[in-house]
Amino acid sequence: HHHDLLIVGSANADLVVAVDRRPAAGETVLGSDLAVHPGGKGANQAVAAARLGARTALLARVGDDDHGRLLLTSLRAAGVDTAGVLVDEAPTGVALIVVDPGGDNSIVVSQGANARLTPDDIRAAGTLLASAPVVSVQLEIPLATVTEVARALAPGARLVLNPSPPAPLPDEVLAVCDPLIVNEHEARVMLGDSAGERPEDWAPALLALGPRSVVVTLGAAGALVAGPDGCERVPSPRVEPVDTTGAGDAFTAALAWRLGRGDDLPRAAAYAARVGSAAVTRKGAQESYPTAEELPGA
Ligand code: RIB
Ligand code: NA
Repeated sequence: HHHDLLIVGSANADLVVAVDRRPAAGETVLGSDLAVHPGGKGANQAVAAARLGARTALLARVGDDDHGRLLLTSLRAAGVDTAGVLVDEAPTGVALIVVDPGGDNSIVVSQGANARLTPDDIRAAGTLLASAPVVSVQLEIPLATVTEVARALAPGARLVLNPSPPAPLPDEVLAVCDPLIVNEHEARVMLGDSAGERPEDWAPALLALGPRSVVVTLGAAGALVAGPDGCERVPSPRVEPVDTTGAGDAFTAALAWRLGRGDDLPRAAAYAARVGSAAVTRKGAQESYPTAEELPGA
C-alpha cells in the first residue's frame, strides 16, 4: 500500500468554548455552549492532507470511547488510512480550548491514549515507515516515540517536525528535521533568551540548532523559510480570522505533502499558507480544512 505521507501523532477530542476574553490566572469567565470537535495535531494533519488529495496514513492511539469513534469517523470521512490508529485502554486524548472573538485560542491537552503511543508501536509499523517518502510528527506523543521515528526513517525519507507543545529535542532528532516548523511561540521557547525581537533573525538561529531547514509561521504575516540556500519570506493571503485552531496543523500537512511531491521549500510554504489561511476562516480544526477545489486561487 503506497502512501504520500505518514503522520505519527496525537488524536484528541477538542472541547471548545467561545469566550469574550480568555481568562487570566484566578479569573472565571462565562462562555458559549460547549462544542466537541475532532482534533489533535496528528489527526488534524492527517485530515488536512487527505482532504487536499494526499494518500495519507496516521499512526496514533485513541480510546475505546465516543471521542475515539468521533476521531475515527472524521479520519475515515477524509479518506485517511486508519489501519495504524490503535484502540487503547486509556481514554482518548482531550483538548480544552477557549477561543476569543479575534479567533485566538488557549489550549490545555490531557494526553490520555496519546501518551501510550510507544517506540514499540513505531517498530511494529515498520512497513508503513519503510514506504513513506515524508513522515510528519509533533510533540503531543512521547519524545521517545518521536526519537524512534527519526531513527526508523527510510533512506531518502524526509522528516517534518512541529515541536508543539515545545520540549527540548535530542540532537539526533533535530539533525534530521527537514524542515523544523515552528510558530512564533515555539521559536521563542526554542531560542530562549537569545531569541531577540526580529523574526528574520529566528530562522537562521534555529537553523544553527541543527535541522536541515526551518519554517517559522507568522500567521497573517506569512512564513519565513530558511535552508542552506538562505532565508526568504513567503506571504499569506489576507483573510478574516474566525478560528485559528488547527490552522498550523493544516499548514504543516500541506507543506509536508508538497515537499514529497517535489516542491522546493518556498513553493511548498506558499501553498501551505493558502491552506492555513483557508482553515482560519471556518470554525473548528478538521471541519475547517479545505479541499483542493475550495482553495482560494485554485
Ligand atoms: O493544533 C490544534 C490542536 O491542538 C487541537 O486540535 C487540539 O487537539 C490540540 O492538540
Ligand atoms: Na479553523
